[in-house]
Amino acid sequence: MTDEIARAAEYVAEADRIFAFVGAGFSAESGVPTFRGEDGIFSDEKIAELAYVETFEREPERALKWLQEARSMMAAVEPNEGHRALARLAARDDKTVTVATQNIDGLVERAARRAGVGVGRDLAVHHIHGSMTRIVCHDCGRAVDASFDASFDASDGGDDALDLSEMPTCEHCGGLLRPDVVLFGEMLPQEAFQASVQAARSADVGLLLGTSGIVYPAADLPRQASRAGASLVEINPNPTDLSSLCDVVIRAKTGEALPQVVDGA
Ligand code: OAD
Repeated sequence: MTDEIARAAEYVAEADRIFAFVGAGFSAESGVPTFRGEDGIFSDEKIAELAYVETFEREPERALKWLQEARSMMAAVEPNEGHRALARLAARDDKTVTVATQNIDGLVERAARRAGVGVGRDLAVHHIHGSMTRIVCHDCGRAVDASFDASFDASDGGDDALDLSEMPTCEHCGGLLRPDVVLFGEMLPQEAFQASVQAARSADVGLLLGTSGIVYPAADLPRQASRAGASLVEINPNPTDLSSLCDVVIRAKTGEALPQVVDGA
């Protein structure tokens, strides 16, 4: 165990309320690609363009195909050691853990359920950039009863309840159905974001797990936590815009370092 890991474990041991701010790097060891960096999907300009709502509205077929491919990929991957460590932390009676995740893959919840942790009861998970596990109408915003959240728990990786490649439409308004994820140019889900702000402001410790911290307003959450008095621990192999805010910086993969922090706390 390094000195940084030991110090982080001490912070976590002493904390009652823990705020975990999660980014793409947290799922990297599960095989989900990050957005930025050498292997990030945004290094391909054509893909980066698909993340904008304007592209969805201009070329829905291409955008839906991309979303559907990403959704299938995410249904086929498995939680990693980092997800399992976070679930173990949430299972502890002496800690309240709240997760604000920018990830849309549902892996935090899958690891939690498998560990017998009640999502929503023992562990609050706020999806500030939406989730692939829900389907909504792009026009009227109604959710469709086609969630494959449950099938995400299946060992075979789940089956798609809705074939998005078919350009399905909303039975209420005829609008296009799509995964409930936030594209650039769209508002964040306000309920999830406000709940994350509350959790950040009342935390004793903030864990910054695998995020570059450059996309706002999400990246303001650790700043709010710090201003309100939380100690911050970053676990990331690379420096980020948030590193200078942190009390402890662990330059390692979350799947390797977080289990040591949690089990040492
Ligand atoms: P980024 O792709 O910007 O950053 C990923 C971070 O993970 C980088 O800092 C990497 O160094 C780090 N990383 C890579 N592998 C890691 C590992 N095994 N363990 C720990 N860290 C690792 O991803 P985000 O910060 O999540 O938004 O990006 C934020 C938002 O930008 C996303 O939610 C998405 C994107 O545009 C929307 O789609 C709205």
